[in-house]
Amino acid sequence: MKGSIPISGAKNSALKLMAASLLCEQPLVLTNMPNLADTRFMARLLQSLGVTVEWPTGEALCRMHAENITSSMAPYDLVRKMRATFNVLGPLLARVGHATVSLPGGCAIGARPVDLHLKAFEAMGADIVIEEGYVKAAALRGLKGAHINFPFVSVGATEHAMLAAVLAHGETILENAACEPEIGDLAICLNACGAKIKGYGTPVITIQGVPKLTGTRHDVISDRIEAGTFAIAAAATGGNVLLEGARAHDLGALIDCLQKAGVMVDVEAKGIRIRRDGDPLQAVDVETRPHPGFPTDLQAQFMALMAVAEGTSTIKENIFENRFMHAPELNRLGADITVRGNEAIVRGVPRLHGAQVMATDLRASVSLVIAALVAEGETTVNRIYHLDRGFERLEEKLGRCGAKITRQGDSA
Ligand code: EPZ
Repeated sequence: MKGSIPISGAKNSALKLMAASLLCEQPLVLTNMPNLADTRFMARLLQSLGVTVEWPTGEALCRMHAENITSSMAPYDLVRKMRATFNVLGPLLARVGHATVSLPGGCAIGARPVDLHLKAFEAMGADIVIEEGYVKAAALRGLKGAHINFPFVSVGATEHAMLAAVLAHGETILENAACEPEIGDLAICLNACGAKIKGYGTPVITIQGVPKLTGTRHDVISDRIEAGTFAIAAAATGGNVLLEGARAHDLGALIDCLQKAGVMVDVEAKGIRIRRDGDPLQAVDVETRPHPGFPTDLQAQFMALMAVAEGTSTIKENIFENRFMHAPELNRLGADITVRGNEAIVRGVPRLHGAQVMATDLRASVSLVIAALVAEGETTVNRIYHLDRGFERLEEKLGRCGAKITRQGDSA
């Protein structure tokens, strides 16, 4: 692959920033918004709660105004399809004192409970009842600050607790908080709206509650997972690709692994350049960890890369219990991968060959695209609606660098 690819705003940041609009009495304007099935879906949920959303199709600027919240109920149909919608619970609780939100349920990569989220709200004084698959939460006299020590790191619970604590009475301390860049993005945006959050980016976050939030204009952080995915695609295919707007600081663990695999990574003023001139890839062992460790959201893509490296690598998944569904599909393309519990043994093969494969989740589906790019012959990836949840104009962006990808039929 040869050329440059502009990196979009981060899906996983945008979704939480959108939920934050529920806390703001004045408009929240987000720029660099990724146009994705998931962010559009979140916009629909916000509208159903009374938020005015102005976001023309294809535009990167989204204006949300939660002047009057008209409903505090998020039904099953809107939460089951996308777990991040559960994140409206905290803001609704903080802003209007009550909320009824469907439990999200499991998904293809694991059970993904929300117990840590609920314990955090209880610590802030909310009454929580679970009835018929719904979380009914109330804090009619407002939430109060609390000292919350998470038993393990959760991105969602850290963000959700932060969203609720900004309007609580008094101080909240979050210990063992997640340090992902998306947490910092959310904190920066909330602070620009008048919140008082310190320590984000470290495991201890302190939030001084304020009576209300205004609005602001905020640029969504660049998507480190999209950037990482294209970096791996460039490494797998060889060539020279500039990832415009990618932030090296957010991708340290991946960059280390790519360099160990024999890929050249240069940090330039405009982004990150990935180069591989024909030297063979070397096997590298990888273990997923919370940030700044190797991200679980790049594990599938890295497995596709290791499938064509020289030697054997071990890939260990520590975050989700069922995130290897791409392994048998990669094997259909000629890879040699054995899964044992939470470890995958990847024996590199000289070449992959095209086949029909099935996408199971967002990151798994893009790992199949990467493998297909290096495979001899044609590959058909089915169920590409998974891709549209998190990758903006994927075939166009890869196509700019020489990939030949066509979409057939409706993606939905
Ligand atoms: C976020 O999910 C991301 N999603 C995920 O990206 C990402 O894989 C994950 O963080 C880890 O980086 C969004 O931001 C929308 P967690 P989240 O809470 O917040 C367990 C993608 O492909 N847990 O950090 O749900 C949980 O089951 C997606 O874009 C509990 O047990 O992840 C998991 O094993 C997939 N109880 C672990 O913690 C809880 O209350 C970490 O999950 C919460 C989490």
